[in-house]
Amino acid sequence: MAAKTVLVTGAASGIGLACCELLLARGDNVCGVDLNPIPAGGFDPKARAERFIAARADVSDAAQCASAVDACVNRFGQIDGLIHMAAVHSTRTWREIDAEHMNRVLGINVTGAFNMSQAVARAMETTGGGAICLAMSGSIAVSGLGGDGRGGIAYVASKAAIIGVTRGLARSLAPLNIRVNAVSPGSTRTAMTADYSEAAVRNAGSKTLAGRMGEASEIAAVALFLISDAASYVQGEIVNVNGGGNLGL
Ligand SMILES: NC(=O)c1ccc[n+]([C@@H]2O[C@H](COP(=O)([O-])OP(=O)(O)OC[C@H]3O[C@@H](n4cnc5c(N)ncnc54)[C@H](O)[C@@H]3O)[C@@H](O)[C@H]2O)c1
Repeated sequence: MAAKTVLVTGAASGIGLACCELLLARGDNVCGVDLNPIPAGGFDPKARAERFIAARADVSDAAQCASAVDACVNRFGQIDGLIHMAAVHSTRTWREIDAEHMNRVLGINVTGAFNMSQAVARAMETTGGGAICLAMSGSIAVSGLGGDGRGGIAYVASKAAIIGVTRGLARSLAPLNIRVNAVSPGSTRTAMTADYSEAAVRNAGSKTLAGRMGEASEIAAVALFLISDAASYVQGEIVNVNGGGNLGL
């Protein structure tokens, strides 16, 4: 498969970082985007020097997303894929959420997904197309309560909105030869879930056929598939990657 250039957001941690590792290992060029620095030891130093750049951006700011896209195009000439993982968690309960918190979570998780997709689509349009993978969440089916080990209403609402963003973009961008899909992870061991109690981790694992939480690389592998040519007939889909967690155990 010919090497591609992929912009990955949320690249400093968890699933985004795992995507960078897998993409570099298979020979692709990667532009890692995050608010935070990408860990130095994250991946092979030779690949990092030759085929990786980092761009700092807050995805809730459209101008910063456009700058990150420009940095990627200036370095690698084009963008073939976007894997958008940047997001914040919220475990606040309905009593604890105020308008400022709700707007912040929606601004990063929903507007951020749109901003980054729009900026990347503008670049892809000039080079004949590409593919985008966003991040939904299994929490929309099972949670909303907030508290230990549970996304609250702000997070769940933001991830439910990703269904609309994915389908709307899939329809809007198909004429430009740009495919749009989303991966929907179940509970996965990353920084986002690092403060879950042992009981919450056990509980999350016990609701799956796999009997455990997912690993970042297991979600990343499906995100890579969705932006690959092997997924050329997959469009506007939300793909669950949750160890069988949607079977209602
Ligand atoms: N971990 C899980 O259990 C789980 C479950 C379902 C869905 N997801 C989704 O998967 C995606 C990746 O999650 P993760 O577990 O790897 O999270 P993570 O917390 O490990 O990584 C998220 C990254 O996003 C970055 N980020 C946050 N706000 C940003 C902003 N405004 N601009 C730029 N970067 C920003 C953070 O700095 C961090 O590096 C997220 O969209 C998340 O909602 C995760």
